[in-house]
Amino acid sequence: MNNNDVKSLSFPGDKSIAHRLVLLSLLLNKKIQIENLPDSKDVCTSLNIVKKLGVEVVRSDKDKSEVTLIGLNKRVFEDEVTLDCGNSGTTARLLCGILSNLKGRFKLIGDESLSKRPMERVVRPLADLMGLNIRSTDGHLPIYIEANGKTKATDFFNQTGSAQVKSAVLFASLAAEGKTTISEKVLSRDHTERLLYYLMKTQQQCGQLACSTLFSSAVSDDRLNFSIPGDISSAAYFIVASAISGKRIECKNLLLNPTRTGYLRVLRRMGAEIEEVIKNDCWEPVGDIIVKGGNLKATDIKADEIPSLIDELPILAVAMAFAKGKSRVSGASELRVKESDRISCLISQLKKAGVDCSEYEDGFEIIGGNKIVSAELDSFNDHRLAMSFAILAKCAKVDLKVKGRESVDISFPQFYDYLSSLW
Ligand code: S3P
Repeated sequence: MNNNDVKSLSFPGDKSIAHRLVLLSLLLNKKIQIENLPDSKDVCTSLNIVKKLGVEVVRSDKDKSEVTLIGLNKRVFEDEVTLDCGNSGTTARLLCGILSNLKGRFKLIGDESLSKRPMERVVRPLADLMGLNIRSTDGHLPIYIEANGKTKATDFFNQTGSAQVKSAVLFASLAAEGKTTISEKVLSRDHTERLLYYLMKTQQQCGQLACSTLFSSAVSDDRLNFSIPGDISSAAYFIVASAISGKRIECKNLLLNPTRTGYLRVLRRMGAEIEEVIKNDCWEPVGDIIVKGGNLKATDIKADEIPSLIDELPILAVAMAFAKGKSRVSGASELRVKESDRISCLISQLKKAGVDCSEYEDGFEIIGGNKIVSAELDSFNDHRLAMSFAILAKCAKVDLKVKGRESVDISFPQFYDYLSSLW
């Protein structure tokens, strides 16, 4: 491919939105038809959980990404149900809020990595402010919930800035009488608010969120249709690769929600040319972007930008390794409690590949322009590190052997096919 060719790419549906739609089927006793549902492991984890609780999941024979969910009408569970959240923090935390709308005893478990991640951030507000009978195990999974279908309305300040915690409180507020308010220092991804608002609008409901009016009103043959826009976080690997290499790409029908596009703003600041065209903004903003490389220069990323690009920091670190000058990321200590400690794991491996970088408690510093060398890197089974290291290798044209490369299946099983179609 010569540099003036534009390669057009469409991505599987956005993971954050997919989780929310799938989990919401536990509260909607109607048919939910979803197009472009990603087949990533994390989303399958949410699907398996709703199935276990009684949602019918029907995949279209023609197109596996078209799925119909037939929501629950049974909301009472006699025996304790164990729900395996695998590697998915979004599933575990959102589920805590969703389950408070049901009646039953639930035990949430997860894999080794998820079992190390902090859960009190979601347990405390649900227990202390909303009266849910929920407890963790020393701050971690297993989480035990005894739900009676009712919670208390509250005013919640989202201290960690986590969209997962905010969403759990929002979902739990559906089981409360009265108004729940949530505030946060910087707006974190707002897919849950948008989805609930959209559902209320389409149901011609307005005012406070009220589960009984919103969800029981559905008639049995009523159906909802959603087409999930392309995953902006999966596209990030190719957008950064394009910004570094100068290979032009066009990404079609991408989610362009401003609470997720922080990394596009950073790449522009670094000198990449990125054109954004919003085509549809009824539920979530969706559009196309065209990326042309530029001569990248260093930049700083501070706390107020972090929520809008939290998942893209590893791939932005790769962009920084190719940029002229010293880049510094601060206010990002949340990275330490992701699928891996994304500060120490990222920086230790970038060093092995020859990148001039250092670790800080709340972020990292990278001085771009060093020669990247062949090395064996460990992804620590963290999908976002595995994909970032693969892009580093391609852009530097060196051989980087990445341990745990198959972890991409967590969010983007087609990643290596996309990569080889571009190079
Ligand atoms: C997500 C929120 C973010 C993000 C995660 C998905 C979501 O996590 O890192 O990949 O879908 O709400 P936090 O809420 O922990 O910041």
